Amino acid sequence: MKFLTLISVASTIATSYADWQYRTRPDLSPIELNITIPATDDKVSPGFLFAAPFSGYDQDNTHGPRQPGAYIFTDKGELVWSGFSYFANWQANFQASRINGENVLFAFEGTHNPGYGHGHGHITILNNRYETIKELRAGNHRISDKHEFHVKDEKTGLIQIYHPVPKDLSDYGASADQQWIVDAKFQELDLRTRKVLFEWSSLDHVSPHDSVLPINPWQAGSGYNSSDAWDYFHINSVDKDENGDYLISARNAAAIYKINGTDGSIIWKLGGLPGKTSSNFKVKGKPLTFSFQHHARFLSTSDDGSKQVFSFYDNSAHGTEDHRGHEVHYSDQSSGKIVEVNTETNEATLLAQYDPPRGHNLLSKSQGSTQVLSNGNVLVNWGSEGAVTEYTADGTPVFHAYFGTGELGKHVENYRAFKFDWHGYPAEAIALHSDISPEGDTIAYVSWNGDTETSYWKFYSIDKVSERQLLGKVPRQGFETKFKIEGETHSKLVVEAYNDQHRFLASSDVVVSEEQVEEKRVDTKAKFQHYFAWLANKD
Ligand SMILES: *[C@@H]1O[C@H](CO)[C@@H](O)[C@H](O)[C@H]1NC(C)=O
Ligand SMILES: *[C@@H]1O[C@H](CO)[C@@H](O)[C@H](O)[C@H]1NC(C)=O
Ligand SMILES: *[C@@H]1O[C@H](CO)[C@@H](O)[C@H](O)[C@H]1NC(C)=O
Repeated sequence: MKFLTLISVASTIATSYADWQYRTRPDLSPIELNITIPATDDKVSPGFLFAAPFSGYDQDNTHGPRQPGAYIFTDKGELVWSGFSYFANWQANFQASRINGENVLFAFEGTHNPGYGHGHGHITILNNRYETIKELRAGNHRISDKHEFHVKDEKTGLIQIYHPVPKDLSDYGASADQQWIVDAKFQELDLRTRKVLFEWSSLDHVSPHDSVLPINPWQAGSGYNSSDAWDYFHINSVDKDENGDYLISARNAAAIYKINGTDGSIIWKLGGLPGKTSSNFKVKGKPLTFSFQHHARFLSTSDDGSKQVFSFYDNSAHGTEDHRGHEVHYSDQSSGKIVEVNTETNEATLLAQYDPPRGHNLLSKSQGSTQVLSNGNVLVNWGSEGAVTEYTADGTPVFHAYFGTGELGKHVENYRAFKFDWHGYPAEAIALHSDISPEGDTIAYVSWNGDTETSYWKFYSIDKVSERQLLGKVPRQGFETKFKIEGETHSKLVVEAYNDQHRFLASSDVVVSEEQVEEKRVDTKAKFQHYFAWLANKD
């Protein structure tokens, strides 16, 4: 009896939930941004928000996004593109970029192991019609990891690999059974030929003694077999400067390194935990510590090369993503940081730090990114906390959002977030839907997943085969535009998209209006609460 009731509740919700989002796309259930600091155009940087939110609890999946995947949003929280189903499996590091003159999107897609913080897969590249044009894997028969893919000068790609190798680890506190270690590698690939131009291997240059994550029998990565190899170094970002040298973030060494692009030697190391990590620099000015950091990016180099500025995300915490593992905290909160190193004076200076906005307590034990935007603003993505903040350069928060609302916002994580200028011309057809209300009005809805160009829509009635009657020219309202023609019943409609230069972009197929016998829309949010209450009580 109880069983039957539950089935009927669940099926009602499935249909009403889809309607609740978009009439034209009942199949899409994108995340809703919970914006706690709304963006105002004069303060935020231009561009769209790119993210790939997912559930932090892979096992039971209660909850997190209904459709985890790559998304493009406006900073007003309006959906631009749902990439759900475009990339397969688990996705991360979703970005816009330019390769050999072509504007592209890319993301990592593959498997995800939250316990070990590893992902195995490849990079998938889409064109500006959202069509797959290339898959990219690491060279030299190595499996690519999820953490990094970064395009340099439109021509090459930086990619990263966790390569397990057997090794005698008795010097590092391991028992005779613990013999596997992760050799953290990165490669630079020619994006046209896929040739490996450079490969670097951590075990050639960095001793396992430099790890701040000791080999412990009780944690993931304790060296018992190749899939449990000790991840002593953990490269999670790679960048390259004008001189051809590399910048890597090694999370489990709590350090950022500059690597010679000719011979692979370490040019310098900035250690983040004084007393625990070695460093080539002493800190000048404000205190500077960091650990388990992510996403180090070169920002500038002085003319003589002695000073370099870079940004990164300082987690200052470590732990597995499912809360079951061991946690280490070196601060109460994570932050975005900008640092200058001077190789003449051997000093490191903290130039700027972006703390969570007041009232937002954010300490992420995994993931995260810091992007310095073209107007000097800074976008900080709080990794396992599932949130993103934009700041002006002086540190004033001008936008903050969580990736999800209500129950669906729980346990959402997002590896990296970015803001990019982007122009999308979808290969998908325009979605048009038309209802006839009981009063005889025609209510039309239109959307075009991924379109950034449409400025207004022209709706036509084609009730009589020979004529098209223009019903109205309607400014684009967001992802979905609604147009109500009161007191007129039109059984067949078509819609055309125009850009702000009045150029015709595309036309929909002809759709036949659906008669709405009565207003069936229920209070879906109330139904949802009921469903979640049932989920919560079901054990
Ligand atoms: C590898 O070692 C881990 C940790 O001891 C263990 O949980 C896992 O089952 C092992 N896997 C295989 C394939 O032996
Ligand atoms: C990098 O290595 C090459 C070859 O060993 C050397 O000539 C060059 O000076 C090094 N660059 C830096 C910045 O140390
Ligand atoms: C949005 O986030 C705030 C801060 O965490 C929370 O208090 C609020 O309930 C959230 N709103 C929704 C609709 O999820």
